[in-house]
Amino acid sequence: MENYELNQNFEIVTRRLVLPRDLNGHGNLYGGSMLSWIDESSYLYAVEKIGYTNMVTVSLENVRFRSPAKMGDSVIILCRIYQIKKTSITIQTKAIVHDTKTNQTSEIIDCFITFVCLKNGKPFPYFKTEEFKNKYNKNDINDILIEH
Ligand SMILES: CC(C)(COP(=O)(O)OP(=O)(O)OC[C@H]1O[C@@H](n2cnc3c(N)ncnc32)[C@H](O)[C@@H]1OP(=O)(O)O)[C@@H](O)C(=O)NCCC(=O)NCCS
Repeated sequence: MENYELNQNFEIVTRRLVLPRDLNGHGNLYGGSMLSWIDESSYLYAVEKIGYTNMVTVSLENVRFRSPAKMGDSVIILCRIYQIKKTSITIQTKAIVHDTKTNQTSEIIDCFITFVCLKNGKPFPYFKTEEFKNKYNKNDINDILIEH
């Protein structure tokens, strides 16, 4: 099996409160803060799922901010594994803003972030190792990973 797609629902990874330090000059959430939260949340989610920590971010795709967030809003970050290849894992990450005053929610971003496993500073085919395969029994793999 070369590539996999995970057939599972998103999981909430983090909730963030929008504070003054996260705002741009017009009172909206600064995009750089959002990207930093996404990078951190996606990394933590991937680490928890695959049991490997030496990874770097190689790409962030589909970055379009659809709705603003304001001070005091709650930002909910959800992740799922989208694809696992040889050295890389792609996480699909969504952020949703919850306006606590109106109780309305809207999606800020839905993007794909790819991490590459490293060993000695070079891409490492962790997902081909027995160590990775042993973390999941065959039924689990069949259950959660779809070949594509
Ligand atoms: C990530 C890095 C090690 C990749 O090195 P590389 O020599 O380009 O490696 P490769 O071309 O062999 O690609 C390695 C994997 O990355 C994937 N990849 C490379 N560019 C990609 C991109 N733009 N989008 C998605 N995946 C990408 C490849 O498909 C490959 O995946 P696979 O092995 O699972 O098939 C290197 O580019 C690097 O160190 N970048 C800096 C990372 C960093 O510091 N990030 C923090 C933010 S500054």
